[in-house]
Amino acid sequence: MRQFPKNFLWGASTSAYQVEGAWNEDGKEPSVQDIREPFPNTTDFKVAADHYHHYKEDIKLFKELGLKGYRFSIAWTRIMPYGKINEQGIKFYDDLINELIENDIEPVPTVFHFDLPASLHEKGGWSNRETIDAFVTYCKVLFDRFGDRVKYWQTINEQNMLVFAGKVLDGNQASWKTIFQGNHHMLVAQAKAMKVYHEGNYGGKIGPAPNIACVYPKSEKPEDMLAAEYMSAFRNWLFLDAAVYGVYNHMAMKILKALDAEPEITEEDRKIMKENTADFIAFNYYNSMTVSAAEDNTDAQSKDQQSGFSIAGFFKSETNDHLKTTEFANWPIDPIGLRVTANQIYDRYRLPLLITENGLGQEDTMTEDGKIHDQYRIDYLKAHIEQVGLSIEDGVEFLGYCPWSAIDLISTHEGFRKRYGFVYINRDDFDLKDLSRHKKDSFLWYQQVINNNGIGL
Ligand code: BG6
Repeated sequence: MRQFPKNFLWGASTSAYQVEGAWNEDGKEPSVQDIREPFPNTTDFKVAADHYHHYKEDIKLFKELGLKGYRFSIAWTRIMPYGKINEQGIKFYDDLINELIENDIEPVPTVFHFDLPASLHEKGGWSNRETIDAFVTYCKVLFDRFGDRVKYWQTINEQNMLVFAGKVLDGNQASWKTIFQGNHHMLVAQAKAMKVYHEGNYGGKIGPAPNIACVYPKSEKPEDMLAAEYMSAFRNWLFLDAAVYGVYNHMAMKILKALDAEPEITEEDRKIMKENTADFIAFNYYNSMTVSAAEDNTDAQSKDQQSGFSIAGFFKSETNDHLKTTEFANWPIDPIGLRVTANQIYDRYRLPLLITENGLGQEDTMTEDGKIHDQYRIDYLKAHIEQVGLSIEDGVEFLGYCPWSAIDLISTHEGFRKRYGFVYINRDDFDLKDLSRHKKDSFLWYQQVINNNGIGL
């Protein structure tokens, strides 16, 4: 019998390029996701779940589900194609936000979720310092146009995973040096956006949305513990220390130096980062990490955003023999890890937390009577929500929980068949069918959870 706060934001999440479709409509510029080759045997992002044309129907379902919040992302490429304001793009999100509010659902937008405009990518993307200003200009447009109705803004989705798994997430093949210069520009861009937001008195809160995972030592050896601390500093705290304290984490900086990837940081950058920090922390959690001391000399890049990686001389990713794994990609399933992670974040930063992603990607089958019996997803979510409840009992301040995903969408690199939604979208990777919407068993279960405010799960 867990107690959740009265105004707990029970939500669900999506991102623009993974649900919207309409990839070239109403003035939209292609993003990096539109111009890269899809992964083998997976669809492109042209139609996705066609949320762009179905958003009213989808919001009606969100209302029936009982959502208190909807975490979505705004496509930079719709709002400012080729650097110019596009009123048609603004209208789409205006309508979406208004429709949510009319249905008593809090809009919880992310400014940037893996879909950099192709024209900026061609000019070097984040490694080009000019992208900072382009981002800040874009943010100001969002705050001016939607700030009167949005209480919680997230800046950048999983900046840390863009860095460590960029090859998978947006096709970035650059060297560590270039990647971490780009990362630094993102940190400065985020701080500048927070400055604009705070100085504009828009009345809400703004924060980052990294992917945070606690890191276990493989054994009780002190060397393994140190390795876990190094990985955590590099994978997690580098990003949150910058967003919340406005500084670079010292252990992460040591790794950057060892990789010859220390970014160029101006005095002005340091000042901006220090003076402009987050009001709350949104974070995505899918699984924990396990490492040992790196005895070999091989660096291993992350094969996707939830997988471990290794840095020679610091840490080496290991499997955790105590955890089961998901069918897709063998990600460990670790609900208690979510409680550990939440406590670690809260202990370090003492800011309210919002979970903006957590969920199970699996192939679903529709039975002849049109039902989707996704008990596996219910089991996964139930176990994680219980741990959120226990974290609240531990004393962690939580704003809400927005699992991934509200409706089926295209996975980052495993296509449409890897489904996460409460709502089934009737399409396959290569057959668009009728794109009709169907409530899964998990929809009916989550509806009860929300209705009971988590009690009795
Ligand atoms: C997160 C991303 O990394 O994980 C989402 O923010 C993504 O965009 C989600 O979809 C699940 O990962 P995947 O690879 O199964 O789509």
